[in-house]
Amino acid sequence: MIIFINDKPCEAQVGDKLLQVAQDHQCHIGYICGGNGFCQSCFVYVKEGAECLSAPSAPEKAFISDKLFNEGGRLACQSTIVKEGTIRLLSRAEYLRRIVLGLNVPGFITYAQTIGYNVITKLPDGSSNLIGRVKSGEVNPADSLAKIGQGLAHASLFVVSSFTETFPFMRAPLALVGDGAKNVAATASNLLCTVSGGRLHLPGTASCCCETKKTPLIEPVKILRE
Ligand code: FES
Repeated sequence: MIIFINDKPCEAQVGDKLLQVAQDHQCHIGYICGGNGFCQSCFVYVKEGAECLSAPSAPEKAFISDKLFNEGGRLACQSTIVKEGTIRLLSRAEYLRRIVLGLNVPGFITYAQTIGYNVITKLPDGSSNLIGRVKSGEVNPADSLAKIGQGLAHASLFVVSSFTETFPFMRAPLALVGDGAKNVAATASNLLCTVSGGRLHLPGTASCCCETKKTPLIEPVKILRE
């Protein structure tokens, strides 16, 4: 079956998680906590086909308010396709991007109010759900931290790619920033001496002994008298 994530057609099967389908098709859905159901970076708005998805999980009920559920809110890492049908969803980032690009000020205010309401009303439930899962061993804090590191790296790439897709004229300046960072890294690595075991080449100091160890490029010529 085909489902549509941010209007992109994606091949999917019954039994697939929405997050997995998104990742398989390079769709922009975050997963900072690695699918443990507490970061909400994989939040999506299901615009069509909610009946084709599994019932909300306990973490979703803990973190998502009724107001957001009514707008089609789900966590992609918790939602499984349970039957064939047309499914259309928007990631939170895409939803927001469309509001901003459409200069939809009332839409933005409503969005901000709904998210604020969700945070305030669901913070106690969400926290206790997470604490309970850590206590029961369902969520491993060390494992989650590693996943958060990977997820943040992915999220930063996502932010840059979304930004340049939205504002193509920023590609050149961002590439310059990237090149600048590479040059700094190359300069820094040139400062390290490979002869003296990685010491810095510091001008005017005796910290690096590589000069005395270098093989001369031209061998001295010896003149022998007969
Ligand atoms: S990936 Fe963190 S809640 Fe889904």
